[in-house]
Amino acid sequence: MHRKAILATTALCLSVSAVLAQDLNEEQQRALTARQAHMGLYGFYLTPLGQMAQETIPYDAQTAAAAAGNLAAMAAIDQSAFWVDGTDSSIETSRARAEIWTDPDGYLQVKQGMAEATEALALVAGDGLDALKGAFGPVGQSCGACHQTYRAPAN
Ligand code: HEC
Repeated sequence: MHRKAILATTALCLSVSAVLAQDLNEEQQRALTARQAHMGLYGFYLTPLGQMAQETIPYDAQTAAAAAGNLAAMAAIDQSAFWVDGTDSSIETSRARAEIWTDPDGYLQVKQGMAEATEALALVAGDGLDALKGAFGPVGQSCGACHQTYRAPAN
């Protein structure tokens, strides 16, 4: 390609990505990044607990107690700043259903359900495999309950 053409193409690409980036203001982008990171950490801590409950990795009391305690702490924090207007799933990078904004009470109720399930798990996760297994199910279900109603399908 001629050098001039390459420069023109590069300039075009840069201006297109600049327009896409401008779709969200800084507050919106920060909220989106933070809540998706928060969810990623939920997954990070849930995974070893699930693997222990399913006995695909050996039970370890300390690992289980730490992961469950972290999940409970994360579920308990105020997350209201995540839900900045204009960041629902009508934008490409978000899977947050508009119902989070239109039905905040329902949303808070399922969030509370997760807080209670993770708290119950944290109390017993270090007490042996049977205790972990008994309290793990409701935690997994609490993730699913919220995703079913408030998370849009993957693009
Ligand atoms: C109260 C509601 C709620 C609960 C409870 C919840 N989630 Fe989510 N989760 C969401 C929403 C909404 C999204 C989409 C967020 C977005 O795209 O901005 C999401 C997205 C995710 C994602 C994708 C993140 C990304 O990078 O796009 C993962 C992974 C995830 N959740 C894991 C979990 C796990 C594991 C649990 C339980 C331990 C859980 N979530 C509990 C509402 C919830």
